[in-house]
Amino acid sequence: MADQEYSDAIALLKAGHRKVEELFEQFENASGSGARQKLAHRICVELKIHTAIEEEIFYPAFEGKIEEDLLREAYVEHDGAKVLINDIEAGGPDDDYYDAKVKVLSEEIKHHVHEEEMPSEGMFAQCRKAGDVDLVALRDAMLARKEELMAQAEAEGLPPAQPRALNVATA
Ligand SMILES: [Fe+2]
Ligand SMILES: [Fe+2]
Repeated sequence: MADQEYSDAIALLKAGHRKVEELFEQFENASGSGARQKLAHRICVELKIHTAIEEEIFYPAFEGKIEEDLLREAYVEHDGAKVLINDIEAGGPDDDYYDAKVKVLSEEIKHHVHEEEMPSEGMFAQCRKAGDVDLVALRDAMLARKEELMAQAEAEGLPPAQPRALNVATA
């Protein structure tokens, strides 16, 4: 069973972070525009799904239970990433700024992951301290949604990521 792989919701999200870090590293080492585009697409799909399960399920569960500023900033950071994700997905490796966009996306994600995983004051540390949230039930809800989105990505592709906090036009 897939849900046995992750002890709880936070373990699932951390595994998602590691996965995307690995894909960014592969992108950096890849040569050839076909391979780079494929990897960039996988990164974008992973991030769309990761931000969706956090925004739809994980973050709302901690509303009012952890620092409000931290949650708000997380939504804004996600939105910044979504602007780049949609742009990368709309373009291709022959664009002058393609590699720069993927690089900046990786830096933004690195910062955001740090905010989530930072020991003691980070978001996940605060979530663990919040205590009264069932992290195993959250894991199951997120896994179910993740599977649904993965199937959609596979079948018809995911639509552009929708910003929640930023007032930007979406393609
Ligand atoms: Fe995350
Ligand atoms: Fe996040």
